[in-house]
This record gives sequence, structure tokens and C-alpha cells, in this order.
Amino acid sequence: MYQVPKLDDYSAGSLEKAFAELRAAFDAEAQAPLDEAGWKAFRDRWLGRKSGILTQVNEQWLKAAPAEAKREVGRRLNEIKDEISSRVNELRSKRQDVVVMPIGSEARASAGSPSVSGTHQLDITLPGIRRPLGAQHPILRTMNEVVAVFRAMGYSIGEGPEIESDYYNFEALNFPPNHPARDSQDTFFVAGEEAKPARERLLLRTHTSPVQIRTMEKQAPPVRIVIPGKCYRHDTPDATHSPLFHQVEGLAVDTGITFSDLKGTLDHAMKALFGSSVKTRFFPSFFPFTEPSADVAITCFKCNGKGCRMCKMSGWIELLGSGMVDPAVFGFVKKNGYDPEKISGFAFGMGVDRIAMMKYEIDDISLLFQGDVRFLEQFA
Ligand code: PHE
Repeated sequence: MYQVPKLDDYSAGSLEKAFAELRAAFDAEAQAPLDEAGWKAFRDRWLGRKSGILTQVNEQWLKAAPAEAKREVGRRLNEIKDEISSRVNELRSKRQDVVVMPIGSEARASAGSPSVSGTHQLDITLPGIRRPLGAQHPILRTMNEVVAVFRAMGYSIGEGPEIESDYYNFEALNFPPNHPARDSQDTFFVAGEEAKPARERLLLRTHTSPVQIRTMEKQAPPVRIVIPGKCYRHDTPDATHSPLFHQVEGLAVDTGITFSDLKGTLDHAMKALFGSSVKTRFFPSFFPFTEPSADVAITCFKCNGKGCRMCKMSGWIELLGSGMVDPAVFGFVKKNGYDPEKISGFAFGMGVDRIAMMKYEIDDISLLFQGDVRFLEQFA
């Protein structure tokens, strides 16, 4: 094993020889393969601050050097110090087994760990923290699918507030105050609004239809828009009712729009959503804001119309409300170019939750809103 010799002769030749021997000794020792503990001992032997070989060289060669040789000894010592410390570090990074880095500034920067000081050790081969990707909720996915079908037909997308005024939710949609049609859409009212005129009082919207009015107020005809969103009704929760639910509304207004446009559009949309073999059926219904109104059913996509549990043996599944926009509704936005003598339109609204429940065969609507990951991850 190399030992730092005493140095008496500080001539250039002698210094050259002494440093060459030092370098040769290091090279020889650096050949041996090292495990973690061996590397540490090796590092301490050469770089140890108190009694490492380089410290000894410093004490014995540099400090003892005559004034005229100090400069040269110092230069050579610095040179070899740099070389040896970088080679010691290199040796460690070449090692194949687990790399345990002391948290020093370099290790911290390269491992990207939080700033831990002291003697903590970081095993950078441990698995990292997994951040699983999220997935769309079945409601959102269904809503996006419906919207995409209408986008492909040139519809744009609209949104409106969930806290709505009585005017937009009811009055402008031709539900006059105290009209019995309001009973079918009981909702939640914002408290403390009694001092306001009735039409300004706030409530949670019972359907996405108020956005029809908001859209027509902002935009002159023609209009083709779909409106996805949350709605609320004062319904007692059960397997198929939830006080919170979702709708996609549609509105098309232009010159010469007829009931056959409504039928053709919805028939195409249902085929795009549920498969091209699906048939649609329109039958009379009532909504204050459409005249005539129709409920739309599709042939059961599970049994193809033969009758099964999903369609309650009828072969049909009722999915939408629809109709031609009532002229009385245009009356509320007449000054914005909606003259019922000149233009016409159709509207429809569908329950997204119901569609999602059928599609994914979910038998209790509340599962959709409990946020239980064990349920939701089935749809990821
Ligand atoms: N807003 C109606 C509902 O929630 C559905 C509908 C929309 C009907 C548009 C006709 C036209 O029941």
C-alpha cells in the first residue's frame, strides 16, 4: 500500500517523480472492483479530510516546502486533487449495484428530491410515486358523445347559469305565473328573494331550456345550438330520480324549419348514438314552449325491440322531449329578429343520466353521484 514518503529534494525532477508515483499508486488502487463500503473506504483513504493521502501530501510536502518550491508543489497538488476527486466520484457512478447517494447539493439536483439536509440517504432506484390518469365520469362521457353528434351536424355549444331567474326558467318559456305546468317542474328556490318581483327571483334551473332564451337574446337567427348542463328538481331520490341531473338541450331556428327537420335530425342523432338499426317513434306530448310537442322513443337497443327488462317489455325506450318552438316563445325575443311570421324552429331536450344508465346498465342513479372510485373505475 502506498504511503506518502518524506520529501527532501524539492528539485523539479524530484517533484515530477514524487507526483508520478502518487498518481501511479492511485491508478493501481483504483483498478480494484469495489462494493459500496469498499468505495467509501477508498474515498476516505484518498480524500479524507483529516488523514487522507492528499491531506498528508499537503502537510508533508507543501507545508514543509522551501519558499521557492511552494508555488510548484501547490500547483501540482491542486492538479492531482482535482483529478483524484473526480475519478473517485466516477468510480462510484460506474458501480452496477444500488446507488445510494448522500444528499449533497449535486445528488439533490440530479435526483430532484426535496431539499433534505443532513445524513438522509436517497435510493433513486425505488419506484416513484404513481399518479394514475383520471378518466371521464360516465355522465360527462355520455354528454360529450351527444354533443359530438350535433357538432358534426354544424351545431355550436352553449351554456347558461344553473342558478336561474324565474323569468328564464319559466315565464319566457311560456309557463305563466301560477300555471299548472309549473307543478311538473318543482325546484329549489333561493331563500330571501321575496322582496324581488316574481320574475326576478332566483331558483335552480329545472331544465336547460332557459338557455334557449338566453341564446336568442344574444344571437339573431339563424341558430343551431346544443346546450349541455346540470339541472335540478325537487324530486324525492329513488333508483331513477335524483334532485340533480343532466340534460342536453337543442335549438334550431331559421326560415322554413319544419317538423320533418326535427324528425330527421333526431332520427339521425339517435342512430349515431345507439347504432344505425335503431328506429325512432314520435308521439304527441305537451310542453308550454313547444307546439306541437312530441316525446321521442327509440327501439330498445338491448333487445332490438323484442321486449326485455330494460324496455319493460315494450320494445321502446322513451328518451327525449321535443317540439316546434311555440310562437309565444319567439314573442319574448321578437325584437332580436325572431318574428314568428318569418322564422320557425324546433327544440329538444334529453336526460343524459338516463342515457348513461341505459348504456352502461346502471340500475341506480345515485351511484353516479356518490363519487365511489370502486364504481367509477369500471368506466375508466
Ligand atoms: N325542457 C323539457 C324538460 O325538461 C324538455 C324539452 C326541451 C322539451 C325542449 C321540448 C323542447 O322536460
